[in-house]
Amino acid sequence: MRYSALSLYLAAIAAAQHAYVTRDTGTTLSSLTLSGPASIPGEWTTPPLNPSLASFSIETAFFEDYLGNASYPNTLSISLFQNLVDRAGVAPQVRIGGITADSTTWDPDQDVALYNYIDETGALINTTLGPQFWNSVKLLPEGTRIVMTLDLESLNYTGALSMAEAAWAGLGPDIISRFEIGNEPDQYRLDFDAQNYTMIWQPSSVNISKALDISYPEFQVGATVIDPLWPYNTPQAEAQFDCASALAAGADDGHTVKTCSEHTYQYSVCDPIRAAVATLPNLVNHTRLAEYLDLWQPRIHAVRSQLGPDSFVIGEFNSVSCSGRDNVSNTFGQAMWLLDTTLYAASINVSRVYAHQGGPLALQSATQLNHGGLSLYNLWYPVENQNGPVQVFPAYSAYLFVSELIGGSTSLQTANIFPGRQVNGSSITTAEGDPSAGQLSVYGYWDSPNAKYPAKLGILNLEMYNSTATYPRPNVTVDFSAYLAYPGQVATARTMTAPGTDIKEANVTTWAGQTFATGVAEGTLVEEYITSGRIDVAASSAILITLNSY
Ligand SMILES: *[C@@H]1O[C@H](CO)[C@@H](O)[C@H](O)[C@H]1NC(C)=O
Ligand SMILES: *[C@@H]1O[C@H](CO)[C@@H](O)[C@H](O)[C@H]1NC(C)=O
Ligand SMILES: *[C@@H]1O[C@H](CO)[C@@H](O)[C@H](O)[C@H]1NC(C)=O
Ligand SMILES: *[C@@H]1O[C@H](CO)[C@@H](O)[C@H](O)[C@H]1NC(C)=O
Ligand SMILES: *[C@@H]1O[C@H](CO)[C@@H](O)[C@H](O)[C@H]1NC(C)=O
Ligand SMILES: *[C@@H]1O[C@H](CO)[C@@H](O)[C@H](O)[C@H]1NC(C)=O
Ligand SMILES: *[C@@H]1O[C@H](CO)[C@@H](O)[C@H](O)[C@H]1NC(C)=O
Ligand SMILES: *[C@@H]1O[C@H](CO)[C@@H](O)[C@H](O)[C@H]1NC(C)=O
Ligand SMILES: *[C@@H]1O[C@H](CO)[C@@H](O)[C@H](O)[C@H]1NC(C)=O
Ligand SMILES: *[C@@H]1O[C@H](CO)[C@@H](O)[C@H](O)[C@H]1NC(C)=O
Ligand SMILES: *[C@@H]1O[C@H](CO)[C@@H](O)[C@H](O)[C@H]1NC(C)=O
Ligand SMILES: *[C@@H]1O[C@H](CO)[C@@H](O)[C@H](O)[C@H]1NC(C)=O
Repeated sequence: MRYSALSLYLAAIAAAQHAYVTRDTGTTLSSLTLSGPASIPGEWTTPPLNPSLASFSIETAFFEDYLGNASYPNTLSISLFQNLVDRAGVAPQVRIGGITADSTTWDPDQDVALYNYIDETGALINTTLGPQFWNSVKLLPEGTRIVMTLDLESLNYTGALSMAEAAWAGLGPDIISRFEIGNEPDQYRLDFDAQNYTMIWQPSSVNISKALDISYPEFQVGATVIDPLWPYNTPQAEAQFDCASALAAGADDGHTVKTCSEHTYQYSVCDPIRAAVATLPNLVNHTRLAEYLDLWQPRIHAVRSQLGPDSFVIGEFNSVSCSGRDNVSNTFGQAMWLLDTTLYAASINVSRVYAHQGGPLALQSATQLNHGGLSLYNLWYPVENQNGPVQVFPAYSAYLFVSELIGGSTSLQTANIFPGRQVNGSSITTAEGDPSAGQLSVYGYWDSPNAKYPAKLGILNLEMYNSTATYPRPNVTVDFSAYLAYPGQVATARTMTAPGTDIKEANVTTWAGQTFATGVAEGTLVEEYITSGRIDVAASSAILITLNSY
C-alpha cells in the first residue's frame, strides 16, 4: 500500500486528536483535540442567533397552573422566567397552545381567568378563557412575547376570531408575537392534507388580519407534528402535510405568514412499542438526537428560502410524548438532552425552540402510560399535583446555560465544530466514525463582526454516569487551544452538572456552582480560569467557555 504525504499527515493528526481508555464500562474517548481553524467557518455558520432561542410552550389548559393570576401569582414560575431574562438579556417567548388550544373558547362574561371543564371520569373536555386571563399572561417578565394558538379543529371561524380579537385587545401588538391557527392539524380526525388545510387556514388568517386591522404578517403556519419521512425527495415524503407543503399550497398567498412551526418529539410513551425505546441511554446520545433533527433539514431549507433566515421554529417539543417518563425525562439526562437539542437545532438554522410544559390529557391515546397531574418532562412543577410536590427539575439548568450563552448579544453566530462535521451541517455519525459514539458535541459562537476568533464555546460530554456508580467519574480532556487568539489567552469556564445522569433533584444540580431549586440562585458562583487551552469535561456535564477579550 502506498501513502501520499498528505494522507500520512492527516493520519498523524487523527492519531493525535483522539486517545482512548478502557474502563469497566467499555472503551471510551479520554481526550479530544479540536483542530480549528479559529475563524468563523463561513459556509457552515448560521445567521445571528435569535436571542429568544430557548423559549417555552405552555399547554393552554395549564397556563394558570404555571403563572397563577393577578391575585395569586405563581412566584416560583415568575422567578424562574426572570433568571433567564437576567442572563439572556431578553425574555424567552411563551407560546400558549398545545392540544387543548383546539378546545379552548373565549367567554367575555367569565369571572375566572381560566376554566377547565372536567367530566366525571376526570377527562378534561374543554377550556374557557375570560378577560382576567390576560392579567395572568402579563405576570410574565416584561418584554415576553406571546404566540397565541387559536382553535382550528372545531372549524368555527367565528370562535377563532373572537379569541384573536380578545387577545389583541387584552395584550396588544407589543406582547403578541404571532397567532397560530390550530395545533398539530396533521393529527386531526378531519384528516387534513396540505391542500384542504390551506383552503381554510389561508382565508382565516387573512380575515383575522383584516378584522384586527393588522397590515403585516402576524401568523405562524403549520404546528404540525408527524416526523418527516426519509429520504425526503420521494412522492410519499413530498405529499406529507408540513410547513413546506402548506406554503406550496398557497398558505402565504395573502402575505399573512411570518414564520413556520413544526413540533418534535423523538420518543413517546403513547404506546408500548415506542415506550420500549424511550430510555435514558437513548435520550442522552448526540448521534440519535442529531439524526432525528436532521430529518427536518430539507424543510428548514425550503421554509427559510421562502420566508427568510429567521423563520423556522420548533414551536413545541419535548423528549417523550404523552407527557414524559419517570427516571428518563425528569432527570439530569434530560438537561443534557435539552441543551444539546437546543444547541444542535440552532446550528442547523432553527431560530427558536419552545420546550412544552403541560400535563397528561385523558384522551390522547388509549394506551398511554401517564394519567393526570403535570407532565414528567416539565422543567418545573409550579403547583403540587398528582405527580409530585412543587419542585424544579434538573433540566431547567439547560436553559440557564443557553441564556448565559446568549448573554445579551444579538450578533452571535454558531457552527457545529465537532470533528468530522459534514458539509450539510450534520454531525458525523457513529457509523461514519465518530470516535465518541455520540457522547461529545462541541459548538462555536462568534460574535460578529469579530469573525477571527470565537467568543464562546459549548462543550458537552453526554456519557452516562449514574450517581450510584462505584467507579471514578470519567472525563474527556478537550484541547481547544486552536481557538485561542494567542497562547495563554484566558478562558472562563462555567459548568452544568449534577451527581449523575439519573439525578432528579434541582438541589444537587448546579449551573456555575449554584443551585436553583427554590427559584433563585443559591450558593457561591464558581467559574474556572484556564490559560492552557485544555479542560477536563466530566461524563454527564457541559461547559460554557467564554474567551475573554483579545
Ligand atoms: C385566582 O386564583 C385563585 C386561586 O387558585 C382562585 O381562587 C381565583 O378564582 C382566581 N381568580 C381568577 C380571576 O381567576
Ligand atoms: C364544554 O363541554 C361540556 C360537556 O360536553 C359542554 O356542556 C360545554 O358546553 C362545553 N363548553 C364550551 C364552552 O364549549
Ligand atoms: C362558534 O363560536 C362562537 C363564539 O365562541 C359560538 O357562539 C358558537 O356557538 C360556535 N358555533 C358552534 C357551531 O359551535
Ligand atoms: C382533506 O383531504 C383528504 C384527502 O387528501 C380527505 O381525506 C379529507 O377528508 C379532507 N378533509 C377535509 C376536512 O376536507
Ligand atoms: C373570510 O371572509 C370572507 C369575506 O367576508 C368570507 O366569505 C369567508 O367565508 C371567510 N372565510 C373564512 C375561512 O373565514
Ligand atoms: C448530510 O450529508 C451526509 C453525508 O453526505 C448524509 O449521509 C446525510 O444524509 C446528510 N443529511 C442531511 C440531513 O441532508
Ligand atoms: C424510578 O427510579 C426509582 C429509583 O430507582 C424507582 O424506585 C422507581 O420505581 C422508578 N420509576 C419507574 C416508573 O420505574
Ligand atoms: C444556515 O443558513 C446559512 C445562511 O443563512 C447557510 O449559509 C448555512 O449553510 C445554513 N446551515 C445549515 C446547516 O443549513
Ligand atoms: C448512540 O447512538 C448511536 C446510533 O444509534 C449508536 O451507534 C451509539 O452506539 C450510541 N452511543 C452510545 C454511547 O450508546
Ligand atoms: C444508569 O442507570 C440507568 C437506569 O436509570 C441505566 O439504564 C443505565 O444503563 C445506567 N448507566 C450506566 C453507565 O451505569
Ligand atoms: C479526569 O480523569 C483523569 C484520569 O481518569 C484524572 O486524573 C483527572 O483528575 C480527571 N479530571 C478531573 C477534573 O476530575
Ligand atoms: C434535595 O431534595 C430532596 C428531595 O426533596 C431531599 O431529600 C434532599 O435532602 C435534598 N438535598 C439537599 C442537598 O438539599
